[in-house]
Amino acid sequence: MSSPYRIAPSILSADFARLGEEVRSVLAAGADWIHFDVMDNHYVPNLTFGPMVCAALKPHAVLPNGQPAPIDVHLMVQPVDALAAAFAEAGADYISFHPDASTHVHRSIQAIKSQGCKAGLVFNPAASLDVLDWVIEDIDLILLMSVNPGFGGQSFIDNTFRKIEAARKRIEASGKDIRLEVDGGIKESNIRKVADAGADTFVAGSAIFGKPDYKAVIDQMRTALA
Ligand code: DX5
Ligand code: ZN
Repeated sequence: MSSPYRIAPSILSADFARLGEEVRSVLAAGADWIHFDVMDNHYVPNLTFGPMVCAALKPHAVLPNGQPAPIDVHLMVQPVDALAAAFAEAGADYISFHPDASTHVHRSIQAIKSQGCKAGLVFNPAASLDVLDWVIEDIDLILLMSVNPGFGGQSFIDNTFRKIEAARKRIEASGKDIRLEVDGGIKESNIRKVADAGADTFVAGSAIFGKPDYKAVIDQMRTALA
């Protein structure tokens, strides 16, 4: 694994009435990325926020050192391309989509990259990784769902561990610098096991925003990863 760990809080579990403040607070508490869950009430049975909210939050996504914090957009939408383009315009850094939501996966990846964003593919718990046979050299991130997409606060599905191992093997075989992110049910208590399986980037929504002290949770996660 070439790069250090990243913690990416999902603002799905933040207070939607104070999103800018929540983004600032969680970055001040030590988060690395902001994970932005886009749901369309079609690909998943829930509805969240769109590119205008991303653009509004962009100025709030600043690390304590003054550098911009990467905005990690997880598209749970179908079709993919028009919204991906709108998120690139809105300041997204990573844009990931579910390959089963795009008719032309290779084209969607190239479209995201042509707008200067990093591209990721997302795999549901029952989805095969086989599409990676043909596109792994084109992507920057693999996002493995450890819950079924649509809602925060669900329990981690244990067979994700062997999928993490399988994805890590594919990344090593590719020789490319690709992040391996896991999303759903991650807490202080299981983050070490997720890392040991081969993940380097961790989404956590309810585990962080569900607690009053974001720094205490993120510190515990870092300690577990150390
Ligand atoms: C689920 C989302 C996740 C969600 C994770 O569809 O993709 O990012 O916010 O929430 P927790 O960490 O609460 O499982
Ligand atoms: Zn997500």
